[in-house]
Amino acid sequence: MSKMRGSATRKRNILASGKKNGGHPDIVSSPKKKRFSSASDVKSVGTPPSKTASVPPKPNKVTPNSKHNRTTDKKDGARRALEMSASLTSSTPTKPSPLASSVMESDPIKGAFGKLASEAIHIQSNTRSVYKIVNKQTGSVGGNGSFGAIYGELTVGSMQKMVNLMKKYTEFSASSRFIDVGSGLGKPSLHVAQDPGVEFSYGIEMERVRWMLGMSNLNEVLKAAYGQQYAGEQLHEEGMIKHRCMFDHGNVMEAESFNPFTHVYMFSIGFPPKLWKRLSTMFNRSESPYLICYQAPRIIIERYGFLVELVKQAPTSMHGSSEGHMGYLYRRKGYDSCNATLDKQEVACDSLFEKAWNLASGSLEGVQGYVNTQVQEQYFCGRRTRSSGIVMCAESVEEDTDSEEEN
Ligand SMILES: C[S@@+](CC[C@H](N)C(=O)[O-])C[C@H]1O[C@@H](n2cnc3c(N)ncnc32)[C@H](O)[C@@H]1O
Repeated sequence: MSKMRGSATRKRNILASGKKNGGHPDIVSSPKKKRFSSASDVKSVGTPPSKTASVPPKPNKVTPNSKHNRTTDKKDGARRALEMSASLTSSTPTKPSPLASSVMESDPIKGAFGKLASEAIHIQSNTRSVYKIVNKQTGSVGGNGSFGAIYGELTVGSMQKMVNLMKKYTEFSASSRFIDVGSGLGKPSLHVAQDPGVEFSYGIEMERVRWMLGMSNLNEVLKAAYGQQYAGEQLHEEGMIKHRCMFDHGNVMEAESFNPFTHVYMFSIGFPPKLWKRLSTMFNRSESPYLICYQAPRIIIERYGFLVELVKQAPTSMHGSSEGHMGYLYRRKGYDSCNATLDKQEVACDSLFEKAWNLASGSLEGVQGYVNTQVQEQYFCGRRTRSSGIVMCAESVEEDTDSEEEN
C-alpha cells in the first residue's frame, strides 16, 4: 500500500468493478448516481486481492494495549518517535478573519470550545465508539496520549462541528468521498466513515509511524464492526460501526489530482509553501467540488491560487492545547450542485487512490483482512514470545531506539 504508483488519472468503471448500491458489491440495486464524472482513460477496477477476502484470526493476547506483553513497550517507542517528529506541525493559531457575518457560523454556546462544544454537539454513538477505540489504542490527547507532545488534531466536538457544517453547506452525505490530506492517526477519516458514513473515507500520511498507528486504529475499529455484525447485535443505524475507510502511506504530492474525492479535507496548519503550491495545482485540475481547511482566503485564494470561493467559516479548538483555529469551507468556483452530473456511473480516480478505493468498496471481511495483514506485517513480526507477547520487526522500529529484543 505504501508503494506509489503512476500518476495518470483514470476513469473508474463502477459497473465493471461490480460496484452497486453505493459501492456495496454484496447488495444489488439500481446503479448509484454520482456527483461528477470524468476523464477519458477508462480502466476497469477489480475486487480486492483474494488473499484479503478471509478474516484473519484475532491476534491472541497481543493487542497493542495489553499490559502483559512487550507490545506496550514497543508501541511506547513508536509514540516517542512521534513526539520527535511533532515539530512538523508546530504552528501559530489563526486569527479569525474579519469576514462578513454571512460566512461566519456562530456557536450555539458562548465560547463553545473543547469540552463545552463536545457536550453541546450531538455525536453519533458509532462515532463515539470509534473515538473510544482510538483513544484506547493511541491515547486521547493529540495522538500521543500520556506521552506528551501533540501533533495537531481537533477535539471530537470541533470535528463534529466541521462535519455538521459540511453537511449543511457542502452536500456532505453518505454518497460523498472524503480525503484527509496528511491523515496522521486517522481520526477525521474514521469519524466521517461513521457520520455521515461516506461512500469512501481515505487518508494519506507520509510519516510511517503515524500511518502505522492509523492502520492500527482502523484495524481495531474494523474488529469492533465485525464483532457487532456477527454478534447479531440489534443496533440502531447510528450505532453500527461502518468500514468504508482506508489509509495509505505515501506523499500526496505524487497524485495528479484529487479525483475521485468530493470533499478534500486537510488540517493544514504548518503545511509548507511547496506543498501548498502542489495541492493548489492538484485541486484546480480535479473535479472535487469542496475544499475544507484551516487557512483563510487570503492564503488559499490570493497566495496559492485555489479556484474556490468561501462558503463558511467557523472556530474550532485543538486537542491538548488552548489553541483555536478557524475552519474554512470552500467551494470550487463555478460549481453548481443543481447542474452537477448526477446520473453518471463512472467517476475519475487518480491512480494513487485507486487501490484504496477498491479495497474500501469491498466487504467488511475484505477490508478487515487487508488491514489486519498490513498491521501484522508492518508493525509486528508476529513472532510470539514466551510471555505471549509479540516482537516488532527490527525494520519496523527503526525509530524505537530504546527497546530491547526479547528472546
Ligand atoms: C496536523 S497533522 C493532521 C493529522 C490529521 N489530519 C488530523 O486532523 O488529526 C498533518 C499531517 O500531515 C502529514 N503530511 C504533511 N505533508 C504530507 C504529504 N505531502 N503527504 C502526506 N502527508 C503529509 C504530516 O506528517 C502530519 O501527520
